[in-house]
Amino acid sequence: MALEKNVKSVLLLHGPNLQLLGSREPEIYGTATLLDHVATVRTAVEKLGWVLADAQSNSEADLVAAIHDARQNHAAIIINPGAFTHYSWAIHDALSAYNGPIVEVHLSQPLRRESWRHVSVIAPLAIGTIAGFGAAGYELAVAGLSHYFQSQH
Ligand code: DQA
Repeated sequence: MALEKNVKSVLLLHGPNLQLLGSREPEIYGTATLLDHVATVRTAVEKLGWVLADAQSNSEADLVAAIHDARQNHAAIIINPGAFTHYSWAIHDALSAYNGPIVEVHLSQPLRRESWRHVSVIAPLAIGTIAGFGAAGYELAVAGLSHYFQSQH
């Protein structure tokens, strides 16, 4: 990585339908937009002296490609995979080949919802999953990563 040793680049990924946040089922997902969440994560990451890259896609292929790219370019991934959480073995396998810490985030708590949301094929690859705290979950994800990296020293 071309970055200075202690400057970590974090990749924030969002899966399908999450570009609609703010207007999509606000009673479940809240009123903050995707841009709001990205700004929250950017602020939290920059407070730590790290940098943020972000992407949203409705396409599994785009997300897989972004995860492949992260192998060389990002020290950690925060991912809200949307519905891909529950069945995308392609995203699972891409994350499995990733060499840094992964944090899974959900605005809602999938375990309180329909039974098909109770399975996450991503969770076994994550150092932690944050779900059910709405927008606050993104700051918690960055805090979790910060603790993780401190504990590595
Ligand atoms: C979600 C939960 C998923 O079950 C759902 O498909 C989403 C959003 C969340 O943030 O709560 O699209 O990942």
